[in-house]
Amino acid sequence: MLSGIQPTAGSFHLGNYLGAVRQWVALQESHDAFYMVVDLHAITVPQDPEALRANTRLAAAQLLAAGLDPDRCTLFVQSHVPEHAQLAWVMNCLTGFGEASRMTQFKDKSAKQGADRASVGLFTYPVLQVADILLYQANEVPVGEDQRQHIELTRDLAERFNGRFGATFTIPKPYILKETAKIYDLQDPTVKMSKSASTPKGLINLLDEPKATAKKVKSAVTDTDTVIRYDAENKPGVSNLLTIYSTLTGRPVAELERDYEGKMYGALKTDLAEVMVEFVTPFRERTQQYLDDPETLDSILAKGAEKARVVAAETLAQAYDRVGFLPAK
Ligand code: TYM
Repeated sequence: MLSGIQPTAGSFHLGNYLGAVRQWVALQESHDAFYMVVDLHAITVPQDPEALRANTRLAAAQLLAAGLDPDRCTLFVQSHVPEHAQLAWVMNCLTGFGEASRMTQFKDKSAKQGADRASVGLFTYPVLQVADILLYQANEVPVGEDQRQHIELTRDLAERFNGRFGATFTIPKPYILKETAKIYDLQDPTVKMSKSASTPKGLINLLDEPKATAKKVKSAVTDTDTVIRYDAENKPGVSNLLTIYSTLTGRPVAELERDYEGKMYGALKTDLAEVMVEFVTPFRERTQQYLDDPETLDSILAKGAEKARVVAAETLAQAYDRVGFLPAK
């Protein structure tokens, strides 16, 4: 298992947690799992150096607060393992220009920035992600739906490399849970929750004041119907709330539908607001505890990088050899 999260945004949002990080926590119990804060990816758009450093620690603190255990998984920062950039170069040379141009996240992000301002790094962002995954010979990659295309590119490039140079890389599969593959904006439940696309009222940041979070849940957009029922197509707002409620409490959606039969949307929102406050309050506290002790945090990350490098270096050496690079004596 391997996955990564960008440090740029500061607080994780509910989509990051339910779509990805929650699965990471569960999977560390049963798999050899590598999880990283992808700071190399972060600089594909301009970053303030001090903010980037602070946000990298903050991301690691949140991952630990969410339940990652450094004794059960390898948690590290991408730039601490230079093999990522090294393998990315090789993979860049196997990627077609047109192939990279078809990546939808690149198209969206570069359209937003203006083609002249978008960096070459943003263009090759998915190829760096390919290297991230292949270095650890990952079988599965736990992510949200928006990352599916990047995993498909990873499969294509791994097959291309193996075909050209001999079996080297494991072909990975996406690990995407249907229920939480896409968490939607609370104000516009037809778009995914995201820092860039959502309105502040539609975005739940896990580190926000719990009271503000409760307020956002209570003012979530629903519909003019009155029935509390899961129907993603016709009732996207209510369905999104049911998904969030069900995932945070472990109660199946069908059970929630039964319990809320005949009740008003207000009742569902009030209860979900409470569930959310109960979730974010200890999360914030634990994150703060890790931030208050940066030495411990940094030493967890240093140990993680050391473990990650052992695996990454072995794969890179093999890939370099297959490509035909002369070994350095
Ligand atoms: P990032 O940092 O944008 O998001 C981290 C994870 O959160 C998921 N996610 C969501 N899931 C459900 N609903 C949403 N509304 C939602 N918003 C975000 C994302 O799918 C992701 O799993 N390119 C990656 C980081 C990356 C990576 C990797 C991932 C770099 N290298 C290697 C896997 C393997 C990204 O930007 O995620």
